Amino acid sequence: MLLPMEMNNILKIIEKLEKEHSLTVEEYEYLIDGRTEETAEIIAEKARKVREAIYGKSVYIRGLIEISNICKNDCLYCGIRRSNKLCDRYRLSEEEILDCADEGYALGFRTFVMQGGEDGSFSDEFMCSVIRKLKEKYPDCAVTLSIGERSRESYERLFNAGANRFLLRHETADKEHYEKLHPEGMSFETRMECLRNLKEIGFQTGCGFMVGSPFQTTHNLALDLKFVEEFKPQMCGIGPFIPHKDTPFKDYPPGTAELTCYLLSIIRLIHPNILLPSTTALGTILDGGREKGILAGANVVMPNLSPISVRKKYMLYNGKISTGDESAEAVRNLAERMKSIGYEIVNDRGDYKE
Ligand code: 5AD
Repeated sequence: MLLPMEMNNILKIIEKLEKEHSLTVEEYEYLIDGRTEETAEIIAEKARKVREAIYGKSVYIRGLIEISNICKNDCLYCGIRRSNKLCDRYRLSEEEILDCADEGYALGFRTFVMQGGEDGSFSDEFMCSVIRKLKEKYPDCAVTLSIGERSRESYERLFNAGANRFLLRHETADKEHYEKLHPEGMSFETRMECLRNLKEIGFQTGCGFMVGSPFQTTHNLALDLKFVEEFKPQMCGIGPFIPHKDTPFKDYPPGTAELTCYLLSIIRLIHPNILLPSTTALGTILDGGREKGILAGANVVMPNLSPISVRKKYMLYNGKISTGDESAEAVRNLAERMKSIGYEIVNDRGDYKE
């Protein structure tokens, strides 16, 4: 319970955020630390209202194709990190990727997200060829990439081949914290430069971070929010950190659905138009988590279109949901869940609305 004074301060900060779409880092900290069930419901209600004014009750779906779990990086939190010798590696062929898209198109998907580890064999030539074929076959669809850090020239080639969007979570906006989550050789500056390049090139760009990652403080989260505010991404992916048993972070506690949803509401108020997914990690940490995310202001879900045979191999964290469902089954299930809370999955590219 908050004292009436504190409650009043929080309400004032929420009102300022609603009006100005900007807070100081200290105000973000106060908003995070001072949250209660009551203030979370107040901010969620405002977030829903803002989201519904722009996107109505529509929930956009993105068909996620996990193209490879081979990765040259060694992020300490991630199940497909290079050092995880227990990870059974795979890479989809161009034909397999296009087959996933065929299945997705028939199910109503109009955005395909190709996501993978930083697999050295995904040359510009290979990626551009897949992008071109996808766009030729499905000119009414958007192509999103989530394949990590590359040179500016490479990003330009992918964009010129027809890719529309790019997701690259910044993971944390605090350099010191970044260095605790990543091994030497991975750099905070490079990550941020990649994000700036993507946006300048013209991609609809998504950043994002994990909630409750090891060593994360309220100050770190406030910096994440400030970064989201200033960078003005078209998309932002956030989900709870969930430990993976074969990583150095296996014994760290997971993040919570509660804080994730609260942050989703804040982000919706920062950028009313943002495309905000209710993530698989949120649905994994809590049954009904994705519904809660939508009710907190999210407007996107990303069901899996990967071949069933590789689903279990793309384990970034333990317990990932719907690794056994047929894509069609997963979409029906999700559509039902969205309907139960008064929202509706739509067959639309779901572009960012200016
Ligand atoms: N828990 C939650 N999210 C994770 N990711 C990677 N490992 C984990 C984990 N253990 C997220 C990262 C990455 C995205 C593809 O998945 O934020 O950017």
